[in-house]
Amino acid sequence: MSDRIPVILDCDPGHDDMVALVLALGSDRLDVKAITNVAGNKAMEKVNRNTLNILNWCGVEKEVAAGAVRPLVRPYNRTDTDGCHGLTGLDGFDFPADNPLKLSKRRAIEVMADVVRHSPKPVTLITTGPTTNVGLFLRAFPDLIPNIARISMMAGTCHFILTEPFMEFNAYLDAEATRIIFESGVPITMFGYDVTYSVLFRQDFTQRLLATGTRTGLMMQKLLDEFTVLHNKRWIDLGGCPVHDACAVAGVIDPTIVTRSEKMYVRIQTEPGPLSGATICDYQHRSGMEPNAEVVFAMDNQRFFDMVVESAAKLK
Ligand code: BDR
Ligand code: CA
Repeated sequence: MSDRIPVILDCDPGHDDMVALVLALGSDRLDVKAITNVAGNKAMEKVNRNTLNILNWCGVEKEVAAGAVRPLVRPYNRTDTDGCHGLTGLDGFDFPADNPLKLSKRRAIEVMADVVRHSPKPVTLITTGPTTNVGLFLRAFPDLIPNIARISMMAGTCHFILTEPFMEFNAYLDAEATRIIFESGVPITMFGYDVTYSVLFRQDFTQRLLATGTRTGLMMQKLLDEFTVLHNKRWIDLGGCPVHDACAVAGVIDPTIVTRSEKMYVRIQTEPGPLSGATICDYQHRSGMEPNAEVVFAMDNQRFFDMVVESAAKLK
């Protein structure tokens, strides 16, 4: 049996999802069994195109399956100009118009079920988009839950407030699905804004990516330099730019990269009202509820960036 960790990456590229993909695909610790897409940063069609473009450019072949086109209950009403990833969802790099890679004929939760059912080792689900596919999967295949090792999710926030109180995009876009995850009993590591806004890259990092000399590094440098402009203009300029999604991958490759985390009870508000979609983290342990998530607050940033550069250097 391979000593690699079997994972499925569920994503909605997105610039930071692209970094998550490269990090996972270039890692010799992970065995990426499949990639599943979810409508999030952009609608399904663009997300599918972006994932396939990244894989083709990086010279990787994996099963890529389309998933949920909208949240379980809520509408998907984003327009092309929403968010900070540009019109395509991956503005900043011109991928070749022709891409021989095609989508799987299976849908995301079929692929998840197949992989999890047949894996000799429990599978880790890494989720870097809205939580819809994973929520659906847990509901549709409860018998397979024992063979899920962990859900490493870029979602939620404990203290860090970006725009609205306690809201993070992946968690709130499909709050009902997020709730299913928090109530599932599966071990959860939550890489929310608390940690992701403390791991900021600057141009020295994108120059290191370029210096790998790989096509992958070149693509990343171009996309991330553009993302810095888009993100910092749209959201907040903290003197660098976050790569949220890649944090949830790094923590699976090497859990010791996390330097501060705490187990606590987390719930998401699904009831209507101004806080619908907010993650409520019982960081003072006052609710009397058993912890259901490990909430990450800090990582070894230097090691994180080194890891990403290493992966970029290993791909085409
Ligand atoms: C999350 O939202 C998206 O814009 C990013 O890809 C990331 O997954 C951050 O809130
Ligand atoms: Ca994402």
